[in-house]
Amino acid sequence: MRRSIIFAFLLGPVVSRLSADVGVSAGPVEGGPVYPKDRFNGGGAREAPWSTTIADPSEAGEKLTLTGTVFDKENQPRQGVTVYAYHTDRRGLYRYRPWSPPQLRGWTRTDAQGRYEFHTIKPAPYPWGGTAAHVHMTLALPDKIEWWVPGLCFAGDPLLSDRLIDQESKKGLFASIQPLQPQSDGTLRCVRDLRIPSDW
Ligand SMILES: [Fe+2]
Repeated sequence: MRRSIIFAFLLGPVVSRLSADVGVSAGPVEGGPVYPKDRFNGGGAREAPWSTTIADPSEAGEKLTLTGTVFDKENQPRQGVTVYAYHTDRRGLYRYRPWSPPQLRGWTRTDAQGRYEFHTIKPAPYPWGGTAAHVHMTLALPDKIEWWVPGLCFAGDPLLSDRLIDQESKKGLFASIQPLQPQSDGTLRCVRDLRIPSDW
């Protein structure tokens, strides 16, 4: 009994982190606090432009603009929300060293229209398979702990489960599965709106 308690205490954060990281295959991360010492975290609220660059021009991969609007619980655009995103590279790797954050990550802070925008590249699924390509995202406010929102996946990914597709199909721009829209300049665009979580 005592041994099991100690075991749970030691493994709890690990299991929590893993469930957040691979949750997109088993279902979206439904939300929850980001542990401050989590090496994947965004560090909470911070100043940032509403539009920012994650992947510089030398990064290999299809150029992607990920954008959307953050709404409050009254469905009004919310200014001043820090949106943090990180994802894998073209090979499906985070390229992080032990105890270091993923390489492809960035922050925005929503403008007066509640807008956020990331310029990056299309991530690939993990090379070991089983999990759809995804972008992890958190929200933060100066007076709130950083909070996970469901990871963003892309429509048409064969690794998405039918259950998740069905679950997200009626959520419109708030869904965690959104289409990659080819643009005339050869880049991709993905629009995903976010709502301040009710339990935050
Ligand atoms: Fe991940």
